[in-house]
Parts: sequence; structure tokens; C-alpha cells
Amino acid sequence: MVSFSIWQLLLLSASVAQAAEITSDTYFYGQSPPVYPSPPITGTPSWAAAFEKAVALVSQMTLEEKANITVGYSPLTGCSGETGTVPRLNWTGLCISDAGNGLRSTDFVNGWPSGIHVGASWDRNMAYQRALHMGGEFKTKGVHVALGPVVGPLGRVAQGGRNWEGFSNDPYLCGALASETVQGIQDAGVIATTKHYIGYEQETNRNPSGGVEAYSANIDDKTLHELYLWPFANAVHSGSGAIMCSYNRVNNSYSCQNSKLLNGILKTELGFEGFVVSDWGAQHTGYDSAAAGLDVAMPSSSYWGLDGNNLTEAVKNGSLPESRVTDMATRLVASWYQMGQDVDFPARGVGMPSKFYTPHPPVYARDPSSKQFLIEGALEGHVLVKNVNNALPLNNPKLISVYGYDAPSPPEMNVGGPNDFIGGTWVYGYESTLDYIVFISDTSPPQIAANGTIISGGGSGANAPAYISAPFDAIKEQAYQDDTSLFWDFLNVDPTVDTSTDACLVFINAFATEGDDRTGLHDDYSDALILNVASKCNNTIVTIHNAGIRLVDQWIEHPNITAVVFAHLPGQDSGRALVQLLYGQQSFSGKLPYTVAKNESAYTNGGEPSLPEGEYTLFPQSNFTEGVYIDYKYFDQKNITPRYEFGFGLTYTTFSYSNLSINKLETVSTAPTAPPSPIIPGGVASLWDVIAQVTAVVTNTGNVTCAEVAQLYVNIPGGPVKQLRGFSKVGIPVGEPVTVEFDLMRRDLSTWDVASQQWLLQGGGYEIWVGSSSRDLPLKGTLII
Ligand SMILES: *[C@@H]1O[C@H](CO)[C@@H](O)[C@H](O)[C@H]1NC(C)=O
Ligand SMILES: *[C@@H]1O[C@H](CO)[C@@H](O)[C@H](O)[C@H]1NC(C)=O
Ligand SMILES: *[C@@H]1O[C@H](CO)[C@@H](O)[C@H](O)[C@H]1NC(C)=O
Ligand SMILES: *[C@@H]1O[C@H](CO)[C@@H](O)[C@H](O)[C@H]1NC(C)=O
Ligand SMILES: *[C@@H]1O[C@H](CO)[C@@H](O)[C@H](O)[C@H]1NC(C)=O
Ligand SMILES: *[C@@H]1O[C@H](CO)[C@@H](O)[C@H](O)[C@H]1NC(C)=O
Ligand SMILES: *[C@@H]1O[C@H](CO)[C@@H](O)[C@H](O)[C@H]1NC(C)=O
Ligand SMILES: *[C@@H]1O[C@H](CO)[C@@H](O)[C@H](O)[C@H]1NC(C)=O
Ligand SMILES: *[C@@H]1O[C@H](CO)[C@@H](O)[C@H](O)[C@H]1NC(C)=O
Ligand SMILES: *[C@@H]1O[C@H](CO)[C@@H](O)[C@H](O)[C@H]1NC(C)=O
Ligand SMILES: *[C@@H]1O[C@H](CO)[C@@H](O)[C@H](O)[C@H]1NC(C)=O
Ligand SMILES: *[C@@H]1O[C@H](CO)[C@@H](O)[C@H](O)[C@H]1NC(C)=O
Repeated sequence: MVSFSIWQLLLLSASVAQAAEITSDTYFYGQSPPVYPSPPITGTPSWAAAFEKAVALVSQMTLEEKANITVGYSPLTGCSGETGTVPRLNWTGLCISDAGNGLRSTDFVNGWPSGIHVGASWDRNMAYQRALHMGGEFKTKGVHVALGPVVGPLGRVAQGGRNWEGFSNDPYLCGALASETVQGIQDAGVIATTKHYIGYEQETNRNPSGGVEAYSANIDDKTLHELYLWPFANAVHSGSGAIMCSYNRVNNSYSCQNSKLLNGILKTELGFEGFVVSDWGAQHTGYDSAAAGLDVAMPSSSYWGLDGNNLTEAVKNGSLPESRVTDMATRLVASWYQMGQDVDFPARGVGMPSKFYTPHPPVYARDPSSKQFLIEGALEGHVLVKNVNNALPLNNPKLISVYGYDAPSPPEMNVGGPNDFIGGTWVYGYESTLDYIVFISDTSPPQIAANGTIISGGGSGANAPAYISAPFDAIKEQAYQDDTSLFWDFLNVDPTVDTSTDACLVFINAFATEGDDRTGLHDDYSDALILNVASKCNNTIVTIHNAGIRLVDQWIEHPNITAVVFAHLPGQDSGRALVQLLYGQQSFSGKLPYTVAKNESAYTNGGEPSLPEGEYTLFPQSNFTEGVYIDYKYFDQKNITPRYEFGFGLTYTTFSYSNLSINKLETVSTAPTAPPSPIIPGGVASLWDVIAQVTAVVTNTGNVTCAEVAQLYVNIPGGPVKQLRGFSKVGIPVGEPVTVEFDLMRRDLSTWDVASQQWLLQGGGYEIWVGSSSRDLPLKGTLII
């Protein structure tokens, strides 16, 4: 079915040769099959107009010009990357910039809530509005391509350094919010880059270093489809113009040259019409990577040649068909047309000099309409997990005591806002891992950022905020209005407590950054601080700014700890949002987008990344043998009781659930094999058909209007005990029951059949549950397929 050509054989022998330096070729556990040739963009109906225009433009380009636009050039602006241009045709190329939580490295932009915060909001509309307004900032600065959203890492490794950049370790929740984010960014006229494709679940050994190869994520076909690929399918279905391939290997073949992943799964099975861009430096071969499906190499390419000359030569000497280079260029240009960037797009990187302190005309990217979504986004991602003795909301306190390194603005922060690369060190302004964070623990990397509050994690996904509202800033403002007295101590691990205090607010964090995995899921310093305060204060309220899962079992049952908030990474309106929640001006409405265990051992591999071991010391292998059983699916499978289950979160009211109704749509075929259906972006079209609908009634049984996240879980016969397959966040007034609706698509109820290479419905009874978390599911029924 697929004919081998000389370049495929070279590709195979190249990887074997590389391996032979390490050990024999029987060494490999995972193998990735060759899939060639690379499928060209088809001009599917949703891309037809852009495709036609792209064909018309690219047909005027010479081979040299086509090759030239597939490689990055050292940016003349603050863009993270710039493609080559075609001066002869006045085609000015694309600016590509970090990242998914806001535009980095420049001024006059906002620091948005991070991915994990959006995940905790469980709010599709909020995800869309955040992306739309954030995307608008990229466009105003002449950035064509935003390097986000993140759906990989998904969160297999609890200690993963970049889990916070993504939404959730549940593929359905992650996929739904990725879909909204892609639509929002692209509705603003900017190409979204869904990343990192795929199996990039740890920072440890993500790149070759010191003679040790990048690790290989060995993932079986069923797990890949049902877990890691799932949110990418959502993103492609929503029209994501770009996909970034990741640093790691998958089945021992680098993601950016893995033909099975790029040619096979992404461009054939998912019908992806946009372009694949390498992560910065993730390319490891020349024309082989082009043949395998990589379209654009960033930030430059020694492999394809600094102006693409090696690609040109490879075409001329018969190693690579010119049609592949044409397709690479066409995919890039089609994405540009698809977002309307040929009309009135600002100049590349306008107002973004590569050094922000060099003179430049100001370009104000902060739209006043963003304000509402910055604060609402910040509000919605806070999750209240404990609240006893009416600790919250605070009610006209006379004295509040504030503790912990995470309460104030970073005190020694000399740089805020824009960020830059100075003296060989990244200075990300406020959010750096390096400039203001002095580490308390001896472990490297540290678990906490000990010199001030965090509003995002570190690395390329970090924020460039316009300002920071730290918790203590907002508390002071509220104290002024309420005539409350304050006591504070941010330095001592065993601070004093005024016995007259109404409440003790303790602020800690759990930091994470690109480039390193975390070294634990709780730290002794912060735990000691909390316990010391609680021993002296019977109304101790803990807030954790957590860039990932943070365990609480060292102190959660302490009787003096009356309230606990997972505050995640709220962006620049952090403190302002928190105070509105603590004082009951707004209700908490977030839910955990992950499971909080009682102990590290409850997670796959104890929550730790895979390390090089034994005979694999030089070629680390990460075997994803747990399959789809991560997070709550794993806890269900192993019968482990979590501390706080996936989907859990308190509000200032209570809800009751009733009137479950499950309806199969008789107008849509539920034959196990879907009727013949075209491939659209996202896969077989019929997978996206709604085949059943579920409704339930939610009643507010308390005293205040609050939003509830109603959740639907399904047992697909033969699969995990339950899987999230629907959620709906709605404001529910007291005394007015609200009907929530869930649409179930064919894909939601199907499993991947490895033998026939398709999604199949399982005939029989599907148990369906609806409720307020993955373990509080009062409504139960059966759907017969
Ligand atoms: C991964 O699988 C290979 C092949 O089965 C095995 O030799 C290796 O020990 C496994 N690695 C881990 C960490 O389990
Ligand atoms: C990886 O290897 C597994 C096991 O052989 C196979 O099921 C899967 O399809 C392979 N995937 C890729 C992308 O090579
Ligand atoms: C390739 O792109 C570079 C950078 O934009 C440009 O300077 C050069 O002229 C382009 N080469 C051709 C052949 O168009
Ligand atoms: C490029 O721009 C110049 C100056 O605006 C114009 O004279 C020329 O016709 C344009 N060339 C093409 C191919 O559009
Ligand atoms: C690729 O091009 C660069 C110059 O851009 C050259 O130094 C290098 O040797 C070329 N590599 C191959 C494999 O031709
Ligand atoms: C063709 O050109 C490429 C790129 O320079 C080079 O790597 C390859 O060895 C050449 N192949 C032949 C058969 O000359
Ligand atoms: C940062 O925090 C640590 C730990 O509390 C402290 O020792 C150090 O003095 C602080 N650094 C600055 C610059 O404030
Ligand atoms: C709780 O706080 C009170 C002070 O309000 C203190 O006397 C008591 O010992 C604390 N309880 C515990 C278990 O530490
Ligand atoms: C907490 O301690 C204060 C005195 O410090 C006391 O008035 C109050 O009743 C105590 N609250 C609880 C819930 O024990
Ligand atoms: C998990 O268990 C280990 C071993 O008993 C213990 O050292 C560790 O502190 C526990 N973790 C938490 C968060 O309690
Ligand atoms: C829920 O069901 C009950 C009993 O069937 C019915 O009386 C009630 O009207 C329903 N409530 C809503 C909001 O549909
Ligand atoms: C609602 O308010 C009433 C009267 O203030 C109070 O008795 C009741 O406990 C409250 N209910 C809830 C669920 O908070």
C-alpha cells in the first residue's frame, strides 16, 4: 500500500545507526512504523477558500522561495521566531510568539490566568473569551502565530514541570477547553498552535544532554487515541492552524520526524490542514523530517539549511519530491489566509523590539474590554476544598493576620512587566524562575517560589503582566474599606499570633517551570508554616497558589484549619479576585481539574518522571504501561480513596440533583460501525455527531446564587469505571431549578479498535452518572446503544 523510496530507507537506517552507537538495534522497546508519503493539504470545505488562495500564491514561488519560508530566521523583532519571507512577491512572512497564557517579552500586554486555572474554571465561555481577548493582543503586536494552547503534557506525571500550562489531565475537559481556546485565538485573527505533539509528559530528559538521549514515550495505539491524542483531535476539529511537535521521542522516533504521528495520525486520520512547526530546536534530521511531515523548522534550521538550501538541494538530487516542499509552503500560507492575515494585519512584531528597552513607538495591546475577563477568569479558577465553622466568607473582621511568603508582591522585584534576555540569563520580569525567587529548600529545582506571590509558572509559558495584584495588596485595600486592622509576617516559619485575631490567612505556593520537573508534591517548609500558625490560631485559612497538584495531608485534618483554597495561577488580577471570594462578594465556583491524593504513592510512578535506568541509561525509556488509567481513572481502578476527588469544589451554597433523563437520538445511526463518512479536520465526520442527550435538574438548596459545574460520567463497557463525558457550568438562583443538558457525541461513547483502526461504539448498556464531582454522583441511569 505504501511504496518505499530511498529517503524512507535512509530514515530507517539513520535511526538504527544512531542507536548502534548506544547498543544493538534489538535495544528498542517501542518501534514507530513508517508512514509515507506525506499527505498534502486537501482543501477540505472549511479550508477551501484559503487553500485556493494559498495554491495561487505558492505557485508563483520558486523552489528556493518555498524552501525559504519553511525555516526560521533570527528574529529582527521580539517575536520568538520569524519565518523566511518572499521579497519578490512582497510576502512578509510570519511572526511566531510565546505563549498560551499571554504574549511574552513585551510591554502593554496582560498576564492572563494560566491553563490550569482555566481548567479549574470548567467554563467553556470563559475559556473562549480569555482566548479571544488574549489573541487580540497578539494581533495588535503583529504576531501571526500564538504558541498555545498546551494539551500535552496532559498530566501523566504529577510532578511534571509544565502541567500548569495545560488545562486538565482529563482528556475530555482538556479537549473541550482547548477547542474553545483555539476558536477564541483564531477568531481574533491569530493562528493557534496546539502543542506539544505528543507524549511530552515530563521535562526530565526531554532533550538530548550529556550523552543521554531524549526519552522515548512508548505509547500503545489505544492509549494514544483514547488519552493523549483526544484533545489534539478537539483542537484540529476547531481548526487549529498549527500543531507543534515536541522534544521527546515517541516509540524511539523523534516526534518531529515521526512519520506515523505526523503523516499517519495527524495528517491522514485527523485530516489536519495546517502546518506542523517544530518546538525550538526539536528538529534532528534534514529532509527526512520534511518527508515525515514536519512543515516549519524553528527557530532556524541547520538541517534544512539556513535559507532552506538543503531542502532545495534534496529536491534537485531526487531525495525529496518538490511536491513536499510545495505542500509545506502551502500549508503555512493557507493558515495565514485562513485567519484573514492577508488583510490589514499589523506589521510583524510591531512595537516589540527584541530588547524592550531600546526606543520603540508604543503599541498598546491591552483592550479595555479585557478587564472583565481578566478578573472573571481569575475568580473562576479558585477551588475551595474545605470550609468549616463558617470560616468563609469573612464577615467584617476586626483583625486579620496574614502569613507566608506567597502573600506579598515579590519584594525584591526590580523588573516588572516586559521581559528580556540579558547577560545570558532569562529575565522574565516578574515571573522569572531566576531573578527574584530565592529558594528555601535545598532541592533543585525548588518546590516553592519563596519571595512573593506567583501568578504563573516559569519558562516560555510564563506571563508578562501589566501589573500584579498580590493577595496582600488586595487585603490592605479591603481592610481600608472595612476598618479592619492587619498584622503580617511573611518571613518567619513560626510566626507569632495575636490571640484577638479573627482569622489567620496563610499563603503558600507550589512552583513549577519549564525545563525541570518538580521534586515533590508538598514541601516541608510550607507545611511547617501552616502547622505552626494553626497551633496558635483556631481560624487558620490556607491559600495555595499551585502550579500543579499539591498535597495537603500533613495538615488538612487539623481542627484549627478551617478553610483551604487551591488558588492555582490567576494571572495579574490574583489578589483582587481572591479578596472578592474570601469576603463573599463572589462565590467560589471552580472545581479541581485533577485528583488530590492523600499520598504521592497513589499516582502513577509515585507522581515522578521516568529516569534513565539500567541498560537504558543512555536511551531513557518511558513505558506508558498504565494505559489510559491516569488520575481518577487510576484511583477508581486501584480502589484508592483520594483526599479530594477530580471535579470536587465547594461553593457558598448547596445543590441538589434530580430528574435525570437519557435520550438516544433515533435519527442518528448508532450502528457500532459509523456509516461511511468523510474525513474532516478532527477525523471521521460522524464521530462528531450527537447521538444521545442527557438532562438533569439542579436546584440551589442554599441561600445565595452560585454557579455549579454539573458533571456527567459514563462507563463505556470494557473501559474505565467512569470517564468524564459532559460538563455544564451554570449560575443557579435560589428557588429556581435549572435544567442542565449534555450532548454525547459518537466519539464520547466509542473506544479505539486497534485491529480495525477505527472508533467503535460498544453495543449494550452504558451506565451514566450526573452530579457535582467524580465521586458525588447522585443521579444514575443507563443508555442502551
Ligand atoms: C520499558 O520496557 C522495556 C522493554 O519491555 C523494559 O526493558 C524496560 O525495563 C521498561 N522500563 C521501565 C522503566 O519499566
Ligand atoms: C508505538 O508502539 C506501539 C506498540 O508497538 C504501537 O501500538 C503504536 O501504534 C506505536 N505508535 C507509534 C506512534 O509509533
Ligand atoms: C528568505 O527570507 C529571508 C528572510 O526574510 C530574506 O531576507 C530572503 O531574501 C529570502 N530569500 C528569498 C530567496 O526570497
Ligand atoms: C510589491 O510592492 C511594491 C511596492 O508597493 C509594488 O510596486 C510591487 O508591484 C509589488 N509586487 C508584487 C508582486 O505585488
Ligand atoms: C545544510 O546547509 C548548511 C548551510 O546552510 C550547510 O552548512 C550544511 O552542511 C548543509 N547540510 C547538508 C546535510 O547538506
Ligand atoms: C541530496 O542533498 C541532501 C541535502 O544537501 C544531502 O543530504 C544528500 O546527501 C544528497 N543526496 C544525494 C544522493 O546526493
Ligand atoms: C527570599 O526568601 C528567602 C527565604 O525566606 C530569604 O532567606 C531571602 O532573604 C529572601 N530574599 C530576598 C531578596 O528577599
Ligand atoms: C487551636 O488554636 C488554639 C488557639 O486559638 C490553641 O489553643 C489550640 O491548641 C489549637 N489546637 C491545636 C490542635 O493546635
Ligand atoms: C477561637 O478562639 C477564640 C479565642 O481566641 C474563641 O473566642 C473562639 O470561640 C474560638 N473558636 C472556636 C471555633 O473554637
Ligand atoms: C506519603 O507517605 C510517605 C511514607 O509513609 C510519607 O513519608 C509522606 O510524608 C506521605 N505524604 C504525605 C503528603 O503525607
Ligand atoms: C422533576 O420531576 C418531578 C417529578 O417527575 C416533576 O414534578 C418536576 O416538575 C420536574 N422538575 C423539573 C424542573 O423539570
Ligand atoms: C440559609 O439561611 C438561613 C437563615 O439565615 C439559615 O438558617 C440556613 O442555615 C441557611 N442555609 C444554608 C444552606 O446556608
